[in-house]
Amino acid sequence: MRHEVVERRAGLLGILIAAVISVGGLVEIVPLYFSSQVNTPAPGVKPYGPLELEGRDVYIREGCYGCHSQMVRPLRAETERYGHYSVAGESVYDHPFQFGSKRTGPDLARVGGRYSDEWHRIHLMNPRDVVPESNMPAYPWLAERTLDEALTARKMRALRRLGVPYTDEEIATAADAVRGKTEMDALIAYLQSLGLASRQWR
Ligand code: HEC
Repeated sequence: MRHEVVERRAGLLGILIAAVISVGGLVEIVPLYFSSQVNTPAPGVKPYGPLELEGRDVYIREGCYGCHSQMVRPLRAETERYGHYSVAGESVYDHPFQFGSKRTGPDLARVGGRYSDEWHRIHLMNPRDVVPESNMPAYPWLAERTLDEALTARKMRALRRLGVPYTDEEIATAADAVRGKTEMDALIAYLQSLGLASRQWR
C-alpha cells in the first residue's frame, strides 16, 4: 500500500499536507486578482476623502471592528434591516477591509446618513444617552484629540501606491481638509460615508 509509506512518516505527511493546502489556496485566491467584479469599484464608490480616511484610522485604532461588522449578507433578514447586501466592488479602496466577524453591535456597512452628526457625537460621548440599554463603550477622548494634518497626505500617497486613485491636487489639499478637526469629527465623517453608494443600487 503506497499511502502507508506516507502515513508512517510524519515529516513527509506534513510536507504533502502543506502542498495540498497551498495548491487549494492558490486555486481560490489567484483568480480573484484577475476578476473585474472584485477589482472594479461598484457604481458610485469613491475613495475616502481626507477627513474620512483619518476617521477610518481612528475606527481601526479603537477596535470598533471587534463589535461591528461591515458586511451585509444577502439574506432577507439582513437586507430588510440594513439595506443592499455588500458587494466586492465596495471594498476596492479599503486597505485593509473592515468586514469584521463579530456583531455585538449592529452591522455598520450602511450606517452612513442613518443618523445626524449630532446623534453620533452624543452616542460616541456616551452611548447610554441615546440608547439606554447599550453596552457600547464611551469614547469621550476622541473629542479632545486634534488630528495631525501632517500625516494625511502621506497616508494618501501610501494608499495611491496600493492603487487608490488620489490625484496630486487631492493630496496637496488634504492637510487643509483636516486641520483643526478632532478625531471625533473624523470618525463621524467616516461613519457618515459608509454605504452611501449602495443607496443608488436599488
Ligand atoms: C463592546 C462592543 C462595542 C464596541 C467596541 C463598539 N460598539 Fe458600537 N455598538 C455596540 C452596540 C451593542 C450597539 C447597539 C446599541 C447602541 O446603539 O449603542 C452599538 C451601536 C453603534 C452604532 C449605531 C448603529 C445603528 O445602526 O444603530 C454606531 C454608529 C456605532 N456603534 C459605532 C461604533 C464605533 C465608531 C465604535 C468604535 C469607536 C464602536 N461602535 C465600538 C457595541 C460596540
